[in-house]
Amino acid sequence: MTILGTAFGMVFYLLQAVSGESGYAQNGDFEDAELDDYSFSCYSQLEVDGTQHLLTCTFDDPDINSTNLEFEICGALLNVKCLTFNKLQEMYFIKTKKFLLIGDSEIYVKLEGKNITSKKLNIVRIVKPEAPFDVRVIYREGANDFLVTFNTSHLQKKYVKELVHEVAYRQEKNENDWTCVNLSSTKLTLLQRKLQPDAMYEIKVRSIPNANYFQGFWSEWSPSFHFRTPEITELSLWCGPVFLIIRRLWNNCVKNQKR
Ligand SMILES: *[C@@H]1O[C@H](CO)[C@@H](O)[C@H](O)[C@H]1NC(C)=O
Ligand SMILES: *[C@@H]1O[C@H](CO)[C@@H](O)[C@H](O)[C@H]1NC(C)=O
Ligand SMILES: *[C@@H]1O[C@H](CO)[C@@H](O)[C@H](O)[C@H]1NC(C)=O
Ligand SMILES: *[C@@H]1O[C@H](CO)[C@@H](O)[C@H](O)[C@H]1NC(C)=O
Repeated sequence: MTILGTAFGMVFYLLQAVSGESGYAQNGDFEDAELDDYSFSCYSQLEVDGTQHLLTCTFDDPDINSTNLEFEICGALLNVKCLTFNKLQEMYFIKTKKFLLIGDSEIYVKLEGKNITSKKLNIVRIVKPEAPFDVRVIYREGANDFLVTFNTSHLQKKYVKELVHEVAYRQEKNENDWTCVNLSSTKLTLLQRKLQPDAMYEIKVRSIPNANYFQGFWSEWSPSFHFRTPEITELSLWCGPVFLIIRRLWNNCVKNQKR
């Protein structure tokens, strides 16, 4: 090829690249999109099955064809260098006692044994607690309040014990008008005068690690509990105090008579 020919070729190539209509540019875009497709997210659940921990990863793109793709974790493991994930439909998971819970691991996505993408992460920073359960609300007539209680499996755990619980409640007819309260215990009192009388309420709870050592994500919501607040009748407004006064007078009267 002559120098002139090479120069023409280059100019032609440059024109094509600038116009964005060449096969090269299209291929480039296509490849970028393919690479992005392999991004993934993981979360851990510690001591979910006795002393076994669970690590779950999924591709961010739910439509990815994952037929020949594998996940592997290496580093920060007890006794072994790497572990291969099991696959259940679109979810990749490992249940094991072998997480050191100190230091970073590398997660690999592999196609026919070859690393196609990888990510460094720390098992203790991606903890998703188990959802709280057994949410209950008891009306305490004398105190004019509601006692909210719930349970969490994390009370029985050795590692992720300290959680922040978010209690969310709403009047059922107010679709998205949730009131949220954060707490570290599994008990909360709601004052009766802060709620509408004679109304249906829905209440639910979720948990997140309190970020001392273990960090991560919100749990799923607990199942909801539904309750109705009592009516405020003139009777209940007046009868309570009036009844107390009468009883006190009566007691005094009886005492006085005994003297
Ligand atoms: C996914 O990929 C595998 C092999 O790479 C192929 O056999 C299969 O037909 C593909 N599935 C879909 C739904 O494209
Ligand atoms: C795995 O492959 C990806 C993409 O090819 C690369 O960016 C990454 O550095 C590799 N990771 C390791 C630890 O080899
Ligand atoms: C919480 O649930 C555990 C079982 O998961 C149970 O053993 C425990 O008694 C429950 N605690 C309360 C206060 O209900
Ligand atoms: C509750 O705690 C979470 C996590 O610590 C925080 O993101 C949220 O803003 C808090 N909500 C309230 C109402 O304080």
